[in-house]
Amino acid sequence: MKLQGKHIVVGITGSIAAYKAATLIRCLIKEGAEVQVVMTPAGKEFITPLTLSTLTNKPVVSEFFDRRDGSWYSHVSLGIWADLLLIAPASAATLGKMAHGIADNMLLTTYLSMKAPTWVAPAMDLDMYAHEATQNNLSVLRERGVHIIDAGSGFLASGLEGKGRMAEPEEITAEVIRYFKEGATNVKGRHDDAPLHGKQILITAGPTYESIDAVRFVGNHSSGRMGYALAEVCARKGAAVTLVSGPTSLPDPVGVKTVRVVSALDMLAASEAVFAQSDIAIFSAAVADYRPATPVEGKMKREALGEELVLRFTKNPDIAATLGHKKRSQQLLVGFALETTCNEEEALRKMKVKNMDLMILNSLSDQGAGFGGATNKIALLSATSTKHFPLKTKEEVATDIVEAIIEKIERI
Ligand code: PMT
Repeated sequence: MKLQGKHIVVGITGSIAAYKAATLIRCLIKEGAEVQVVMTPAGKEFITPLTLSTLTNKPVVSEFFDRRDGSWYSHVSLGIWADLLLIAPASAATLGKMAHGIADNMLLTTYLSMKAPTWVAPAMDLDMYAHEATQNNLSVLRERGVHIIDAGSGFLASGLEGKGRMAEPEEITAEVIRYFKEGATNVKGRHDDAPLHGKQILITAGPTYESIDAVRFVGNHSSGRMGYALAEVCARKGAAVTLVSGPTSLPDPVGVKTVRVVSALDMLAASEAVFAQSDIAIFSAAVADYRPATPVEGKMKREALGEELVLRFTKNPDIAATLGHKKRSQQLLVGFALETTCNEEEALRKMKVKNMDLMILNSLSDQGAGFGGATNKIALLSATSTKHFPLKTKEEVATDIVEAIIEKIERI
């Protein structure tokens, strides 16, 4: 019973995937959750309220008023009661209305009054899902802290094959369990007893791209996975996280404010904007040390360049060092050192010159460590100690790092 005592509002909208909502509700209830269904009028065309009220043992809420006695259903009290609003399936229409604050049915007013985190599991035809309008609406919602449970690929009700299938109920339930287990948090629904509750954390992640011309750039192999895992763990442990990310293909982490940037100069500006208010900063980005001195405005023509191309580079600011030298005594700063050998001396040197409190050393000579992959192998260095960890997934490594941070701030 991993969801014992949790109050979950399940929102159901007009999509053929509404039939999966019955299984989802059963899975949540089996784990001990108390479920209240709120349906849009279109949702009722796909699955009957009778089925859902029988499963939840509660009347389904769909209208603003009870037609029998005129009593009013309070979306405000649902917003206070819930630990989570989970809209599954979420149709293109509902996502669009949520993005634009259109409150023309009970589910949408419930969303606007919601004090708990909101999750959506989109379900629609592949072209609707891929459409720029839908993707823009999803970006707006993501930016606002709504967690998107990505749609899957496969056969769709239209007979076509592609991306747009609602995630499976068992997968959604597992994600909900994981979320509550690891200290549920969101910009709106933070748990007061989470160890990083009340802390503002800045995390840099991913590579930076430095323009050569309008189509070419200098970059590196960072995928952003290490930094995104850190952001997710910090958010789950109660922090308000700003993730300043270079270009990656990763979705925004749940409950994290993600600021997308391209170059080192952009990353510095975005980091400087939040540094003064941050209690903790973690610099996991692989920032380009140099950028082309004079990027060309259009596209350089190969024919005009001849056999050799010589580029002149200029030094980029060191973001960690720049902010490290503005550090207040109550702030905790964590740097990364990416070395080609496990060079602790060099990591300690970087820690000193950048004014970091902790340094995470990862070495490209260790198999499975560093760029790109799902794993990393680190040593955690402070001024007085070094702790080596075995090869782990980046999520586990992030948890080790965040636990060390929590231990350290408890002593500040
Ligand atoms: O993104 P992934 O594919 O998951 O890979 C993760 C990672 C290998 C990128 C990550 O674990 C890592 O090691 N990040 C730091 C990479 C790096 O640039 O290391 P460095 O030793 O060159 O830099 C030292 C520190 O200064 C780092 O905290 C870095 O973010 C910071 N720095 C460096 C240069 C610069 N101009 N500005 C900086 O802030």
